[in-house]
Amino acid sequence: MIQPDLDLFGPAPQQLAAHTVLLPGFAVAQTEPLLDALRPVLRAAPWRHMLTPGGRSMAVALSNCGALGWVSDERGYRYSALDPQSGAPWPALPPVLLALASAAAAQAGFEGFVPDACLINHYLPGTGLSLHQDRDEQDFSQPIVSISLGLPAVFLFGGLQRSDRPQRIALNHGDILVWGGEDRLRFHGVMPVKPGVHPRLGERRINLTLRKAG
Ligand code: SIN
Ligand code: FE2
Repeated sequence: MIQPDLDLFGPAPQQLAAHTVLLPGFAVAQTEPLLDALRPVLRAAPWRHMLTPGGRSMAVALSNCGALGWVSDERGYRYSALDPQSGAPWPALPPVLLALASAAAAQAGFEGFVPDACLINHYLPGTGLSLHQDRDEQDFSQPIVSISLGLPAVFLFGGLQRSDRPQRIALNHGDILVWGGEDRLRFHGVMPVKPGVHPRLGERRINLTLRKAG
């Protein structure tokens, strides 16, 4: 007899806050199609270290795909339709990524999420991301969908004030975290990634955050 509580589809979603849901392993089955789709994206728009408004080089390397891409330089943070490095539009959002993000958002309670931007972050061991809010998007009614690949990380999920003590959330290869609604402007960051070698991606963590930016 099949036990009614036997979980055939992996770990259950975890509600971390009113409008924040961790979907453990949600992307695992799509990892290879995702990586295949990212290869041409990163050929067209290679990893680069952008400057902060203060003129420092960011520790994470990044790229973008979608109609809009997040960029940073001495003039500030913003979304741009063009890759400043090539002057060309960013590569299109791969359909597999769009479908996965919409499915994850729906699973987390945000039906009809259609992102137009995907920020792709690359972390080497020792690299983290300091606490910040995602507030460069036009429409805060739409959630952020974050897909983690490669080495594990500790995600810091704070409150609406920078001084609020953050929760620590383990993000593993294939996990998707969705935050929106009243949690949309929570401060968040990533602890420096611990040294390690991921069996598929080696010494790196890749994070994809999908947004409705325009
Ligand atoms: C971000 O906040 O843009 C990235 C989050 C992450 O790497 O998990
Ligand atoms: Fe962020």
